[in-house]
Amino acid sequence: MAETMKGLHRTHRCAEVTRASIGSEVTVMGWVQKQRNKGGIIFVDLRDRSGILQIIFEEADCGKESFEKAEKLRSEFVVAVTGILEKRSGAVNENLETGEVEVRAKSVRILSEAETPPFPIEAGVKTKEELRLKYRYLDLRRPDLQSNIMLRSKIVANVRKFMTDEGFLEIETPILGKSTPEGARDYLVPSRVHPGTFYGLPQSPQLFKQLLMCSGYDRYFQIAKCFRDEDLRADRQPEFTQIDMELSFVDVEDVLDVNERLIKYVAKEAIGLDVQLPLPRITWQEAMDRFGSDKPDTRFGLELTDVSDVVKGCGFGVFTSALEAGGSVRGINAKGQAEMPRKKIDALVDFAKGYGAKGLAYLSIQPDGTYKSSFAKFMTEEQLDALVKKMGGEKGDLLFFAADKLNIVYSVLGALRIEIGEMMGIIDHDKFNFLWVTEFPLLEWSEEENRFVAMHHPFTMPMEEDLPYIDSDPGRVRAKAYDIVLNGVELGGGSVRIYQDDVQEKMFEILGFTKEEAHNRFGFLLDAFRYGVPPHAGLAYGLDRLVMLLVKADNIREVIAFPKVKDASCLMMNAPDVVDEVQWADLHLAKRAEESEQ
Ligand code: AMO
Ligand code: AMP
Repeated sequence: MAETMKGLHRTHRCAEVTRASIGSEVTVMGWVQKQRNKGGIIFVDLRDRSGILQIIFEEADCGKESFEKAEKLRSEFVVAVTGILEKRSGAVNENLETGEVEVRAKSVRILSEAETPPFPIEAGVKTKEELRLKYRYLDLRRPDLQSNIMLRSKIVANVRKFMTDEGFLEIETPILGKSTPEGARDYLVPSRVHPGTFYGLPQSPQLFKQLLMCSGYDRYFQIAKCFRDEDLRADRQPEFTQIDMELSFVDVEDVLDVNERLIKYVAKEAIGLDVQLPLPRITWQEAMDRFGSDKPDTRFGLELTDVSDVVKGCGFGVFTSALEAGGSVRGINAKGQAEMPRKKIDALVDFAKGYGAKGLAYLSIQPDGTYKSSFAKFMTEEQLDALVKKMGGEKGDLLFFAADKLNIVYSVLGALRIEIGEMMGIIDHDKFNFLWVTEFPLLEWSEEENRFVAMHHPFTMPMEEDLPYIDSDPGRVRAKAYDIVLNGVELGGGSVRIYQDDVQEKMFEILGFTKEEAHNRFGFLLDAFRYGVPPHAGLAYGLDRLVMLLVKADNIREVIAFPKVKDASCLMMNAPDVVDEVQWADLHLAKRAEESEQ
């Protein structure tokens, strides 16, 4: 039977015993990493979240009963050991923080026994992720995951400290609410009390934080759970956490300033990183033109070049027809890659097609200065020379070109740039390149819906100087919206908000909401604006993404204790799951005929 804690007090965590002096008595508790029985002497590696400590059992020190217990210890047994901290009798273990010491046990209690775990509890295991997630509570014992989760806690603590010191109030907002317009599908919760109605889980606390500004709280922040029913990717979960904030009586500069200092503080405290301020800034237009992306990875070059004017009127129909249709032709110069094997080039063409390209034209400049190309035969020598010159092409370079509608050219070359950068090994993974992207377009044309949609959200303020075009040319209007980007990942985004009800109503009108629809969905916000609203602005970070990037994980699942997989299910608790008939009835829900037959 498991022994108890009665009369026992832990004095140190395993790796913290070094704080006690050699010769003193310590009591440590944790999981058995490994037990080695060498006859008259038993070594046990004891593990807790702080690290590993070697325990040494000899019958002369611990007595027969404890020695016999030590003989029984297996991996993952939970034990308490009291003993004397000593300098290691054997060789020092350089790999362990506690490598110079060991505890000579005087007594041991077995607090609980353990079955053999389905995979080894150690750093860097190669276990299949499904198995790790099914047994997440065991996976979470592994030191690399523990270190991520502990760093996450430290980051949150530092965010709280910084924000509180800057005069932000931490205020919670509801989870059960109405849908918020952040562009994803909502998670809905049926109401028992009001048949046929649903709460929407928040995609962000956007509306509440704006109302808090109306209510005079001046500076708000929250570590907020958000819910978005969208396709999952490596940096997306259906349920994630934002560091959310809103400020009153501010403009763009004020928001960027406080956030730069927040980033600098947190990066230093969390991982000792020195972030140089001010952070670089580029406009959305510049980001798209140079990098083909609104979240550019600036750790490497391979920037885009617009060659439309050079290829205008050339003999290559792919280029000219794209231009005639109002599109663009742009290229990337993969320096020194002229020798890239055909197979690899073909793979890049397929890669580009995955981003909507109809093809990918290329031209390599051979060591003797001649060209090898998929389109050279359609162009004159002069046209080719001019194109190469525009691209800054030299002997040994490989040039790629995309010709299409501009948004497709951006997305193809933006993705290709990263793919080639990785391929060439020119991305420095030790760098942390923070970047502000500003002056986003206010609106984005949705082909699917055949109307404008808000690029950030409907509460984002247009730039004053672009207001004159809001009716005549809405697509041209820029917004007071900004994103913070780290190494090619969108870390956070925000905007200055509309606080005038006439501008807000105009915005709803452009987005195609009737007055009535706007009122049904956001009436409370519009009403609030009629009672004295301060100018306000804010921003939200993806906390999971921030932690992921700071620990250099390649998936946010590595920094979330209990994440979901691609199809939004939890493999450990098997959620979502069926519920019983009574619950269906309570919630006034009925299955469709075909479902009840199953
Ligand atoms: P936005 O929609 O840009 O803005 O979200 C802010 C940040 O949240 C993170 N994020 C996600 N992280 C993980 N999984 C997801 N599914 C996911 N979706 C978003 C990103 C993103 O930059 N209310 C506004 C903010 C504001 O205007 O103040 C908002 O939510 O890192
Ligand atoms: P084709 O005339 O279709 O054989 O194409 C000639 C070359 O142009 C091939 O290398 C194609 O991959 C490339 N290509 C086709 N469409 C495009 C496009 N929209 N942009 C860039 N290159 C293209």
